[in-house]
Amino acid sequence: MAAFDCHVFVCCNCRQGNHPRGCCDPQGTRALLTALKEELARRKAPRRVRINLAGCLDQCEYGPALVIYPQGIWYGRVQLSDVPRIVEHTILEGRVLQELVIPEECLNTRGRVPWSFRCQGENGP
Ligand code: FES
Repeated sequence: MAAFDCHVFVCCNCRQGNHPRGCCDPQGTRALLTALKEELARRKAPRRVRINLAGCLDQCEYGPALVIYPQGIWYGRVQLSDVPRIVEHTILEGRVLQELVIPEECLNTRGRVPWSFRCQGENGP
C-alpha cells in the first residue's frame, strides 16, 4: 500500500534579483502552499493526502509549478484562484485539469518550448 493516496509537491523556490529562469515564489510567501493546505483542511479530506514544500522542480519557466504523485501530474502557472478546484477535482476526485497541465513537450526544456496559452487568455490545448 502506498504511503499516500496523493502527494503534492509545491515549488516555493524564491530566487533573488533578475535570475534568467525566474522562480515560482518571487515574494517568498509560500502563499500557494499555504492555500492548498488550508483548502484541504477546510474540506476535511478523508483520503491520505500530503502537501509538501518543494525547492525548484526545474520547470521554472512554467511556474508557479507543482507536481502530484502517484499520477505524475504537472501543473504550471498555478494561481491562488486555482486552489479550490485543484483540491476538489484533482486531489479529492482524481480528475486532471487539462488547462493547468504543463504540456509533456515543455517539461524539462528550460522554457525552450513555449507554453503561452494562459498568457494569451486562451482556454488551453
Ligand atoms: S523555481 Fe519553481 S520550478 Fe524552478
